[in-house]
Amino acid sequence: MVQLTLPKGSAPKKGKTHPKPDGATNTRTFKVYRYNPETDETPSWDTYKVDMDDCGPMVLDALLWIKNNVDASLAFRRSCREGVCGSCSMNIGGRNTIACTSGIDEYKGDITISPLPHQPVVRDLIPDLTQFYAQHAAVKPYLKTDTPAPEKEWKQSPEQREKLDGLYECIMCASCSTACPSYWWNGDKYMGPAALLQAYRWLADSRDEATGERLDELNDPFKLYRCHTIMNCAQVCPKGLNPAEAIGEIKQMMVEREG
Ligand code: SF4
Ligand code: FES
Repeated sequence: MVQLTLPKGSAPKKGKTHPKPDGATNTRTFKVYRYNPETDETPSWDTYKVDMDDCGPMVLDALLWIKNNVDASLAFRRSCREGVCGSCSMNIGGRNTIACTSGIDEYKGDITISPLPHQPVVRDLIPDLTQFYAQHAAVKPYLKTDTPAPEKEWKQSPEQREKLDGLYECIMCASCSTACPSYWWNGDKYMGPAALLQAYRWLADSRDEATGERLDELNDPFKLYRCHTIMNCAQVCPKGLNPAEAIGEIKQMMVEREG
């Protein structure tokens, strides 16, 4: 398991301990990062006991149980609750992942939950991902062509289409980028694993005609070359993707272009 640090500038103190729910005999303990930058001087860890006989099996179910039964002020993002939207990403038990597909049973003992590390905190488990989204937009994540659009569709052979497997499935949860030490230290200049995976998704697309332009854009000591194959990205990705491998492919394309 990859141990990760807490959000930048945070040293949480012990917070409130909420009592066991009345009559509950089967509980799990959750230590949850709480912070409202507008009102709190420092973050804190609040402790909640969740009645497992009244709660679904996933970590997101436990957070919803806490919000509905104990503390309506707890803030976190979620939408699809089935691993598709990427919005419920957070650090659970020291590892970045998404809460809706993380089973409570996968964790032993008390379960700690904090926001994705090294991002500014908007509130509680909600990080500010403005920079992350801007980097995604910067790689121009769409088909770029010069030839006029065909009447019906841009065609691809099954083999050409297969090259996109493992690249297009990203749900933009940011678990990988915020687990990457290079991104922690140089996140303003290094694009990070998620944006680079997305960049390669278009470089690998047989229909795209902007390969040279895309490589020119990434040919920079920081944007691409701050990946040192630490591999945290591939270890944490909840969709089983391997951004480090995609980054290696981009580096290879750079070399082949020069040669
Ligand atoms: S590559 Fe994986 S971990 Fe990174 S943003 Fe996409 S789905 Fe999340
Ligand atoms: S709520 Fe959509 S991925 Fe978890």
